Amino acid sequence: MSILVKEHQFHLQTDHTSYIFHVMENGELGQLYYGQRIHDQAAFPELTVREEHGAIPAWRLDHPDFQPETLKQEFASLGKGDYRDPAFQITGPDGSRISEFRYRDHQILPGKQRLDDLPSTFDDSDDDAQTLIITLVDAVTDLTLTLSYAVFPHQDVIVRSAKFTNRGQSTVMLDRALSLQLDLPDANYDLLQFSGSWARERHLLRQPLRSGIQSVGSLRGASSHQQNPFIALARPDTNEDHGAALGFNLVYSGNFLDQVEVDAFGTARILTGINPTEFGWQLAAGQSFQTPEAVMSYTSAGLNQLSQQMGVFYQHHLVNPRFAQQPRPVLINNWEGTYFDFDEDKLMAIAREAKQLGIEMFVLDDGWFGHRDDDTTSLGDWDVYAAKLPNGIAHLADRIHGLDLQFGLWFEPEMISIDSDLYRAHPDWTVVAPQREMTPGRNQFVLDMANPAVVDYLYGKISKLIQAAHLDYIKWDMNRNITESFSDTLPAERQVEFAHRYMLGVYQLYARLTTAYPHVLFESCASGGGRFDLGMMYYAPQAWTSDDTDAVERLRIQYGTSYGYPLAMMGAHVSAVPNDQTGRITPLDTRAAVAYFGDLGYELDVTQCTAAEKAAIKAQVAFYQAHRELFQQGTFYRLDNPFAGDGNVGSWQVVSGDGRHAVAARYQILNQPNPAYHRLYLRGLLANQRYRVSGDDHVYFGDELMNAGLFIPHLLATTQGVEASADFSARVFTIDAID
Ligand code: DGJ
Repeated sequence: MSILVKEHQFHLQTDHTSYIFHVMENGELGQLYYGQRIHDQAAFPELTVREEHGAIPAWRLDHPDFQPETLKQEFASLGKGDYRDPAFQITGPDGSRISEFRYRDHQILPGKQRLDDLPSTFDDSDDDAQTLIITLVDAVTDLTLTLSYAVFPHQDVIVRSAKFTNRGQSTVMLDRALSLQLDLPDANYDLLQFSGSWARERHLLRQPLRSGIQSVGSLRGASSHQQNPFIALARPDTNEDHGAALGFNLVYSGNFLDQVEVDAFGTARILTGINPTEFGWQLAAGQSFQTPEAVMSYTSAGLNQLSQQMGVFYQHHLVNPRFAQQPRPVLINNWEGTYFDFDEDKLMAIAREAKQLGIEMFVLDDGWFGHRDDDTTSLGDWDVYAAKLPNGIAHLADRIHGLDLQFGLWFEPEMISIDSDLYRAHPDWTVVAPQREMTPGRNQFVLDMANPAVVDYLYGKISKLIQAAHLDYIKWDMNRNITESFSDTLPAERQVEFAHRYMLGVYQLYARLTTAYPHVLFESCASGGGRFDLGMMYYAPQAWTSDDTDAVERLRIQYGTSYGYPLAMMGAHVSAVPNDQTGRITPLDTRAAVAYFGDLGYELDVTQCTAAEKAAIKAQVAFYQAHRELFQQGTFYRLDNPFAGDGNVGSWQVVSGDGRHAVAARYQILNQPNPAYHRLYLRGLLANQRYRVSGDDHVYFGDELMNAGLFIPHLLATTQGVEASADFSARVFTIDAID
């Protein structure tokens, strides 16, 4: 049993954690505890102790110590004496914004059901999940609030969401509807956020909490390059291997808010959900609004453990089960190899060469449709560009399949170019506010995904190509954010719903395509990692991590991303040098050594490679294939943090589930003269097991590799013929058990 109920006290237990809340005297829900698992008790008097504080309102005269502002609340409203930011806000028919949701009943259901119109977690694998559903009622508006808690005991994860249903006669306005609130009794935590920009996504930033509100979020209509919905709280002394940490993420791809408020009493309120700015929802009589789901997880065993348990959870309970454990193909993508300049011969030459190198899938990127020679035209016209590919996409796909390669195609479904047949036929399908000029972004505009006709059109076009070309894979790109939010299909009073309705349209298109064509592997992309979130991962099991393919930049981007997402979600490609984003020249082996830790691909014109480079790529692909299960499904450990100190070194490791096989890699950005002594302390091995490490004759015990570490010799630059610079170096070690 993971859900223990006693006299209106709810104790959600996972293998290692407890989450406890109860019905308070006023009928609302109060939080008691979230952390390391504790024994169940009939009551927890120590956790409900109250002290009366001066100069703040109390619930009733005869309850002077029941001061909402000082209570740990479960899902708080504003207006009855709790002045912290609330989890929701509703404007009633008379304009009043007061709500009092009181406990009515609860149900415990086996498993975890998917949500209807939103990406969500599930329990198809019968992993002992249970769902607690609590119904609360506001008597004045006759609204019900349903709080859902899905408990996944073995990954120490609880998934939460809220649903508002209007059972009254009049329409009310939902002004704010977040997914998760958690009130912690102290604020002695660091906030870990993952911030950046295009080509510099998800850099780790760790700072202590302080009084007031700290938040990350997006108002771009996408989860964004700039901030990621994953955040963590860690005790100041928590590191990768030890200490308490809490992780929060949102199963959503649009505007979001993650916020921590530290109040006057030193408590911390975490809120996660749809960003209330640019949100509102008219709830007419009889209608419901379901929030996206939020995931929360706790561990006392450090940040590696937090990432691992959340990652295993996603692979089992969020990612499409058809692909979650399936080996992901090593692909070649023509984007950086050709950009818009290709024809069938050129593509076939690349594909043939790629096949020789052991690559398994060919992906045709941007530029195959309409009359697209640059980024100014044709988005929306998803028919082949005959001048480039006179024989059509199906013909090209047949030839690629004939080489025994899989074939994938790039789309950017949500976008439209002014110079397109689609725009000429349906200018009204473009997102623009009345009498306002459209703000361009990358020479393109956004389609109104809140309009069902747009979703139907895109479904028809993409379906036709999937069928004609027998597509194995689709890269779904999205290269600009929304401006002039407005939909011709919504009445004035519902325009505030646009941002969320846009996302619902995107999800509907994904749902229809993945249902009709279940064999197609989707990779999501948004100018690289601009929509790297759990909402996308529900439909597209992997995402293009960043447009930045420079090995040095990728080390940091993938390291930061790994806090919140497992390696199988990260597309990682080897590209040519000088790198197109940074101009940096890094060794081919270093580029591969970074890209191994993800879903490996190549993104260069392999026909231009020298014989030595081709031999190296062939060896890299074979190495990756030999260790693919480790790289895609292994347990990942961060070892040396490239965001720490002078940032010159990073290292990480993957280990098999049985602890018998591992691959570790250490990266050095700049070679230093006479450098510090360095050892690599491995993790996750079997202490009493003997191992061999590649390039080394010594036989090690696991405990030696983990505690004494592996000596990393200094790279010496020779004074004669320094054709191989020791800058940007990487060393990859395989560690295998021997009997
Ligand atoms: C942005 C993506 O991130 C790139 O990989 C590429 O697909 C381009 N768009 C194509 O326009």
